[in-house]
Amino acid sequence: MTITSFHPTPRTLMGPGPSDVSPRVLGALSRPTIGHLDPLFVGMMDELKSLLQYAFQTKNELTIAVSAPGSAGMETCFVNLVEPGEKVIVCVNGVFGMRMVENVERLGAIAVVINDEWGAPVDCDKVKAAFAEHGDAKFLAFVHAETSTGALSDAKTLCQIAQQYNALTIVDAVTSLGGVELRVDEWGIDAVYSGSQKCLSCVPGISPVSFGPRAVEKLNQREGKVPSWFLDQTLVMSYWSGEGKRSYHHTAPVNSLYALHESLVMLQEEGLENAWARHKAQHEQLKAGLEKLGIEFIVDEAYRLPQLNTILIPEGVDDAAVRQQLLSEFNLEIGAGLGALAGKAWRIGLMGYTARGENVALCLAALRSALNK
Ligand SMILES: Cc1ncc(COP(=O)(O)O)c(C=O)c1O
Repeated sequence: MTITSFHPTPRTLMGPGPSDVSPRVLGALSRPTIGHLDPLFVGMMDELKSLLQYAFQTKNELTIAVSAPGSAGMETCFVNLVEPGEKVIVCVNGVFGMRMVENVERLGAIAVVINDEWGAPVDCDKVKAAFAEHGDAKFLAFVHAETSTGALSDAKTLCQIAQQYNALTIVDAVTSLGGVELRVDEWGIDAVYSGSQKCLSCVPGISPVSFGPRAVEKLNQREGKVPSWFLDQTLVMSYWSGEGKRSYHHTAPVNSLYALHESLVMLQEEGLENAWARHKAQHEQLKAGLEKLGIEFIVDEAYRLPQLNTILIPEGVDDAAVRQQLLSEFNLEIGAGLGALAGKAWRIGLMGYTARGENVALCLAALRSALNK
């Protein structure tokens, strides 16, 4: 058999990510590859950094794009900051909080786990109680927008609690960045990571990360070496901010960074607040349509993520058959339930470039058709 070029059928991506990538971003991806130490590329990286600072609403100098997906952003925060034997209060209200626990334990640190129901936000009172009991905890780690359930947690209040106990915060903003309000400096977040493929609508495989001054201080005061060479920010820093004398650390994913640059230029053109408002407005449209179909949301309205709508699969409906039908008849992808919600829920993403009226209309029409069958 002769293998020929791969041409995927275009889909509308309304799952938990990746989201649709705009033609502008795909165009940027196909621009000529240049050397990753070429002065032109270095200039582009400087711009990328300030665009990321805008998206995160931070002045943090250590704001970079890790050359790997969101999971690597998560590991970057944990491996650089958490040392063996240290206590980390970890909030678990879905799959990604569980991964944080895994990160802490693999580093030989102690995870104090606070569990909340899947679909509920992190309970701030439980966090206060955990700090009261574990005053020696060095970190509070939580997921701002839990993609496995569609729940938004109150990052601002959680950071205030951590600050009262002089603990650093590690925040997962993979699904929140660009989709809902996130203010790294104003809220005092110490370390935050995200992903390129959600509300930034860039190609997958890049993870924006930002460390504040307290996190950088903690990193510099480490007793031992960072246990990952690739993710060690003390080494990566000289590549991202070498001020004219950048040194080789690894070969950057040159074209993917063009794509990220373009998606962030688009975000800047739209304006961050306008992007948050657009996600909300499209969510309202989807909600109105789903209600007409008699479909219920899992998350309480007060904590619902506009960009990730988790809905109950109506009784008697074949989960996999409907998703397959949407894909084959409408080229539309929606997400299955994850973890505890597998088989019980669908996840409809309205992230970044996907969050447009025509996609909401398509999704509602396609679901109506599939459910009628
Ligand atoms: C909240 C959250 N954290 C972390 C990740 C991991 O990101 P990636 O799949 O890009 O490694 C995801 C991916 O869906 C996510 O939604």
